[in-house]
Amino acid sequence: MKTGNLIIVIFTATVLVLILFVNSCAPSAEVSGKPGAQLWAENCQRCHNTPPPLVYDDKQWDAVVTHMQIRANITQEEADKIVAFLQESN
Ligand code: HEC
Repeated sequence: MKTGNLIIVIFTATVLVLILFVNSCAPSAEVSGKPGAQLWAENCQRCHNTPPPLVYDDKQWDAVVTHMQIRANITQEEADKIVAFLQESN
């Protein structure tokens, strides 16, 4: 193999590895694709019984989940989905 070709092969391989590395930082489809109801069920009863959606109105759920987002250590996107689910269901 000519040196020029070898350099092209090494360069291409490096770019591919970099693309894989950068992509691996994005949330996987499995995590980011979860619906609000599932995120709520999985996260909001780890520490206490899950309060039913009817207990609070839309504004109150917004405040409660903002508070619980820190406790539950969930992302903003996950918290937004949980709030949307609770506001649809109350
Ligand atoms: C890491 C534990 C933990 C997780 C996870 C958690 N909570 Fe809580 N939650 C608490 C604690 C502790 C309290 C009581 C003290 C407080 O209000 O901070 C509480 C209180 C509450 C209350 C009562 C608030 C009030 O003022 O009466 C609601 C409603 C609530 N949580 C909803 C949720 C929802 C919705 C989620 C999911 C996004 C969630 N919690 C996840 C620990 C948790």
